[in-house]
Amino acid sequence: MSRRIEKVPVALGERSYDILIGQGLLAESGALIGDVLRGRQAAIVTDDNVARLHLPSLQASLAKTDITHTAIVLPPGEATKSYASLATLCDRLLLANIERRDLVIALGGGVIGDLAGFAAAVLRRGVDFAQIPTTLLAQVDSSVGGKTGINSPLGKNLVGAFHQPRLVLADLDLLTTLPQREFAAGYAEVAKYGLLGDAPFFDWLEANVQAILDGDAKARMHAVKTSCEAKARVVAEDETETGVRALLNLGHTFGHALEAATGYSNRLLHGEAVAIGMVQAFRFSEWLGHCAKGMARRVAAHLAKAGLPVATAQIPGSLPPPHDLVAIMRQDKKAVAGRLTFILARAIGETFVARDVREEDVTAFLAADLAQA
Ligand SMILES: NC(=O)c1ccc[n+]([C@@H]2O[C@H](COP(=O)([O-])OP(=O)(O)OC[C@H]3O[C@@H](n4cnc5c(N)ncnc54)[C@H](O)[C@@H]3O)[C@@H](O)[C@H]2O)c1
Ligand SMILES: [Zn+2]
Repeated sequence: MSRRIEKVPVALGERSYDILIGQGLLAESGALIGDVLRGRQAAIVTDDNVARLHLPSLQASLAKTDITHTAIVLPPGEATKSYASLATLCDRLLLANIERRDLVIALGGGVIGDLAGFAAAVLRRGVDFAQIPTTLLAQVDSSVGGKTGINSPLGKNLVGAFHQPRLVLADLDLLTTLPQREFAAGYAEVAKYGLLGDAPFFDWLEANVQAILDGDAKARMHAVKTSCEAKARVVAEDETETGVRALLNLGHTFGHALEAATGYSNRLLHGEAVAIGMVQAFRFSEWLGHCAKGMARRVAAHLAKAGLPVATAQIPGSLPPPHDLVAIMRQDKKAVAGRLTFILARAIGETFVARDVREEDVTAFLAADLAQA
């Protein structure tokens, strides 16, 4: 079998690193990790689901090197991004004698990546860290860019740090065991990169979504690589989100409100909330007159083809009224004087940050939108 590894560099000065994308990378991970390891040992952090499916392959590959390693297996799910899990994880890393030059390896989705990355950021004031993302969402989004953290009872991702990995290994083969619903949720973030700044990529996705869903390796490679390049470009320009990085939040102001309203439960996965949120962002842009009519319809048709919900009516159970959703947004985004920040669109592939959207416009739009759905 001919094998291809694509490399996407993330240019952050002395904190620069590579994202390697390909098939069969896990089986070669020992050697690849050996290339960046400064110390002697590694601690793998993963969850039960991923451990069952993919931990043996990583361990076997590390066993072929002289890197000593331990594995710490945590329960799956968002609840693991907690203070309690962070404390347990830090103590277990200390017990394993992980030193600053050793490596914490996050093997899992965004939950494991965010938690393990944050533990690595604070343990001994910062130990080295690598990501082996196992969900599509983690491969195209959460493993790239160095945002790490946990949830507080007061809100999601409120406690965290920027801590860049030394290496990201995105093995496309790992996606074959991912449940279809999780794959679709990650796909929302792939489509996001086209919508926020790359119209030709969105055109390509429209033509290739079925191949991507069907597991076509070439199509998946192109989708993951283009997404990582887009995120790497934005992160290199604005590492700590003072400017353009905000564009990555397309669909997330509406989406976060829906996630909060549904209690971050199985009713609505993050990517599903983002899919609905992106359609709403385009509808809102049309409603405000920024964008030609018909764009939102095209966005919705594409996301629906990927198996994603595109309207609030598709969320099981009832939702709070528009006024309450706006109240959630206000809290989420620390609105200033009745003004909210949204990522709005002029066209597919052309978005901008609007920092002065009036709350009453959002409420009126949502009332019309929810009635229509
Ligand atoms: N740091 C960032 O920049 C950033 C960006 C986006 C999202 N996030 C965070 O990412 C998290 C969501 O990540 P996620 O969607 O990857 O969820 P997740 O980590 O919970 O994984 C989803 C589910 O899939 C399972 N799983 C993972 N890989 C698998 C595989 N290969 N085969 C079978 N099952 C597998 C997991 O056990 C879990 O049950 C959220 O907490 C979110 O806040 C962070
Ligand atoms: Zn997201």
